[in-house]
Amino acid sequence: MGELSRIGIALDSELLKRFDLSIEKSGYTNRSEAFRDLIRDRLVREQTAAPDATVVGTVTLIYNHHAYGITEKLTEAQHEHHDLVVSTSHAHLDHDSCLEVLIVHGKAARVQHFADILIGLKGVEHGRLVMTVPSLDAEHPHEHAHEHPHQHSH
Ligand code: NI
Repeated sequence: MGELSRIGIALDSELLKRFDLSIEKSGYTNRSEAFRDLIRDRLVREQTAAPDATVVGTVTLIYNHHAYGITEKLTEAQHEHHDLVVSTSHAHLDHDSCLEVLIVHGKAARVQHFADILIGLKGVEHGRLVMTVPSLDAEHPHEHAHEHPHQHSH
């Protein structure tokens, strides 16, 4: 993290009131931290949208283990993408339902593709991929995205 900058923002009072109520519900004790989190969330979303970005994340899957071939297909897909899988955790929720959470790591496009395969498997009832970056400070996507430094005017 760099040095601190203080900024002033002009904001509609009603909008600010609603924002304050909203962040209070989420347990924020100070507005600055809420703004910082919003900004980071935007930057993370932007960064993970770049196919070549290195991301970390989780794939959460709910499935019925009685569905035909589902456990084999899940295992096979994970072995085929073993370089993306850091770890897998499984919970037997009840007689039928399983919850599986994978910690994934790799290039955003491959992680997304892998998650699509898992979530799209017949028998997977619900799935979601959450992508983030190890550290916002560690990578500056625009410096990586543009191979030609002369395009920058600064
Ligand atoms: Ni299970």
